[in-house]
Amino acid sequence: MKIAVVGTGYVGLVTGTCLAETGNTVTCVDIDQRKVQKLQSGQITIYEPGLEKLFDRNLKEERLLFTTSLADGIKDAEIIFLALPTPPGADGSADLRYVLGVADDIGKLLQDYKVIIDKSTVPVGTAEKVHAAIAANYKGEFDVVSNPEFLREGVAVDDFMKPDRVVIGTTSERAQKLLTELYAPYVRQGNPLIFMDERSAELTKYAANSFLATKISFMNEIAQLCERLGADVDMVRRGIGSDDRIGKRFLFPGIGYGGSCFPKDVQALVHSSGEADYDFKILNAVMEVNETQKRHLVSKIKAYYEGGLTGKHFALWGLAFKPNTDDIREAPALEIIDALVEAGATVTAFDPEAMNNVRGVIGDKIQYAETTYDALEGADALIIATEWNEFRTPDFDKILATLKEPVVFDGRNLFEVQHMYEKGFHYESIGRPL
Ligand code: UGA
Repeated sequence: MKIAVVGTGYVGLVTGTCLAETGNTVTCVDIDQRKVQKLQSGQITIYEPGLEKLFDRNLKEERLLFTTSLADGIKDAEIIFLALPTPPGADGSADLRYVLGVADDIGKLLQDYKVIIDKSTVPVGTAEKVHAAIAANYKGEFDVVSNPEFLREGVAVDDFMKPDRVVIGTTSERAQKLLTELYAPYVRQGNPLIFMDERSAELTKYAANSFLATKISFMNEIAQLCERLGADVDMVRRGIGSDDRIGKRFLFPGIGYGGSCFPKDVQALVHSSGEADYDFKILNAVMEVNETQKRHLVSKIKAYYEGGLTGKHFALWGLAFKPNTDDIREAPALEIIDALVEAGATVTAFDPEAMNNVRGVIGDKIQYAETTYDALEGADALIIATEWNEFRTPDFDKILATLKEPVVFDGRNLFEVQHMYEKGFHYESIGRPL
């Protein structure tokens, strides 16, 4: 099939590349000329494990093309994906400026039947707005479909190539038929294509992310309770997760959820609920718990250093909001840095991928180490904010020898409490006994 993908951000580039990988010819459109030139010359613009190989291969085969011209990009395409940003506005609602702007342009360019697909996370009713924006300029036949993405950063290629499910919001039989064909190679293992109306598909995306955020905030509250009652959240997690109805995943307590999706989507759903005259009580609590949890590790640090943090120096492992990405949007590590610096402490950080991004945002507010262990030089304690695999089995003797004091504050529960105690560390983690 011939496909256009408008927007070459994270979702657009993963979607375009993975669609080319099964033999489609995909033209990706972006208004950013420098980015398009880079992509055309074979330089990938995002970090996502496994993507570069597919990107190189499909670029070479000329199945993956890039252009700044929307007209050229969509001319021969049967299907047009919209993968455009929907940043939160001041009131928490998703800003549809880019989506509707492109819809308007598409309306002016259409000459025959095409399916236009919303891939971005957009509020309920957006497909109708996109439809209206196109119909204002194009009187022929076309369909607008809501097909939300469920890609996790770090494993996005796998999530696209082998999805748990594909949600397709359209009641048009013509569009259903085309999308069944398009997605056939990706659901060969029997995972479902779930057809529904546009509004339900749009809400499904928000409901999925909000439910997962709820699971995390719930476990963070259980962890808080564990700390007060002398229970171990790891045990409780295993105890409840083995019940299929609850499930093992997304039960890990920590320093709060971050990233470009959960915080924004929970907030947007609360906002949409308000507009629909409904107070979504649970989600308000989910956001509040998350804010508290982001500061929880710093509260522990402050409690430990009774004399205050002025003059203390900390090593920080992990800056990205989660492992296997360089994404630092809403990263809890940044909030920890703010709190420590405000309290008079200094920080040297190490992250395998996210250092340049952090440097670009906070510059010399902190120091940046060359390696994991360099970060420990002269530090009073080690703080762990992201669970990169390379931090999981470190050389504990080297940590002991390099830190000024054997103190570790772990926001991701990477180590066994007993093991750390035996090694001689003062070790504090989340929801587990000291
Ligand atoms: C999330 C969803 O998982 C995807 O399905 C969705 O497509 C995506 O948002 C999106 O809307 O685009 P992502 O933001 O990449 O994906 O990251 P997750 O792996 O879901 O992690 C989100 C946050 O939750 C991270 O800060 C992570 O550290 C935290 N988390 C996750 C926990 O604190 N505990 C857990 O048990 C799991």
